[in-house]
Amino acid sequence: MEMLLGAFEMVNPNNGMPTWTHPDGRGDDWDDLSHWTKLAKTLDAAGFDFLFFADTYGYPTLEGRVPDETIAHGIQFPALDPMLMIAALAAQTTSLGFVVTSPTVAERPYGTARRFATLDRLTGGRIGWNIVTGSSQATTDALFGLESAAPGAHDSRYDAADEFVELCLRFWEQSWEDDAEVRDRARNVYADPTKVRPVSFDGVHHRGHGVFAVPPTPQRTPVLFQAGTSDRGRAFAARNAEAVFIQGQSIPQAAKVVADVRARAVAAGRPADDIAVISGATIIVAPTSEEAHARRAELDALYALDDAAVMFAGFTGVDLTREDPDTLLEDVVLPAGGAQGQTLLDRYRAQGSVRVRDVLDGFRGRGIRGFLVTGSPVEVADELETIARETGLAGFMLEPTFGGLGCFTDFCELVVPILRERGLLADAPGPTLRERMHPGGGPRLASTHPAAALRAHA
Ligand SMILES: Cc1cc2nc3c(=O)[nH]c(=O)nc-3n(C[C@H](O)[C@H](O)[C@H](O)COP(=O)(O)O)c2cc1C
Repeated sequence: MEMLLGAFEMVNPNNGMPTWTHPDGRGDDWDDLSHWTKLAKTLDAAGFDFLFFADTYGYPTLEGRVPDETIAHGIQFPALDPMLMIAALAAQTTSLGFVVTSPTVAERPYGTARRFATLDRLTGGRIGWNIVTGSSQATTDALFGLESAAPGAHDSRYDAADEFVELCLRFWEQSWEDDAEVRDRARNVYADPTKVRPVSFDGVHHRGHGVFAVPPTPQRTPVLFQAGTSDRGRAFAARNAEAVFIQGQSIPQAAKVVADVRARAVAAGRPADDIAVISGATIIVAPTSEEAHARRAELDALYALDDAAVMFAGFTGVDLTREDPDTLLEDVVLPAGGAQGQTLLDRYRAQGSVRVRDVLDGFRGRGIRGFLVTGSPVEVADELETIARETGLAGFMLEPTFGGLGCFTDFCELVVPILRERGLLADAPGPTLRERMHPGGGPRLASTHPAAALRAHA
């Protein structure tokens, strides 16, 4: 068994719950490019597979108003656009992959396809796209002047996302034949006009016609990640994703998600392991177990209940700040368009009859984090190995703790050598991100992916 290693980041002062005031936070560094190049170089040197950037145009609002907590404490606010940093980070690294979150609401397929293709060229095929419909959707809709979500919007946004991705895939896979870009100076032929053709797509939600202006890149299609494990989200993953990002809460829960994603891949005519399920993990490692647990307690003490409620609203569209703490979650009235992010709600619904108080308390300690792993280097390595073996997860994305680089450098120094010695990390994988993630396959979308049928080439 080998496991993939990624780092989960957002270009904001906190990454999730407020930590920016802590001396080990990144309150003063988050908008400094050198902070991110240091991180990228650390991960690259340690052999991490990718650096993943979550991102959203939105930020938590409650009934159209920005709560004071959002602005004062920096809850997913303010934030910079990670995509604009990737070329700089790639120039400082040799094999690390970069996965960037980009939403299907608010963007248009052509622009998204062009930006990812540009990055795939500039990085030599080290790019992945985390496809999301988008969190904090009410805020995004308002910022972009979009019509606010209609009833049933959750699933229809995924329907639109299916079309969005299909159109991007057509631009990447259909427009240019592999040998179209000849660059023949003597004949003054940059590209062979007989091998470049227009794409044509008329969907219900998206349309696009014309020749793609970026020639084929090393991977053509960036590695397709997906996050959002509602029923509709998983159907979207079965059709489109090569990797699914989850926030695993326990071995049984994560094992169930992995089994379900594998089954859905098979139902979609794909091999079960076509989709790598990767979980977030917040890891606190220190030379001794006691030191690690003391750090964990210090981190937990930073989180406040009000901040948790605001962030919860941002992800789900459900405002729990107005609810009596004793109200049962099942009795909370959902907003007119339904909950926009169901994954989080499902997490608490699965626990049976829970009250608003329990949801917020659980979310305060856990936030949008995955597995919580705390201990000495060997304890952490043991636990990651056990989780991976018992769940079928393909790997982990490390979530920052206090926000600074310390949690990553600690992990790289203390845990990576143990994982490597145990043969749990691949030796010299790559060079493209797709080959790192699915060793033995090529740089291009697998022939088993449903979109392989769209290809003009091969
Ligand atoms: C693990 C996880 C990570 C996510 N990361 C992002 C993100 O970075 N940006 C974003 O806009 N939405 C993010 N989302 C939310 C997605 O936009 C998702 O499309 C939304 O939650 C609706 O889908 P769902 O009901 O399937 O969860 C994430 C969701 C999950 C579960």
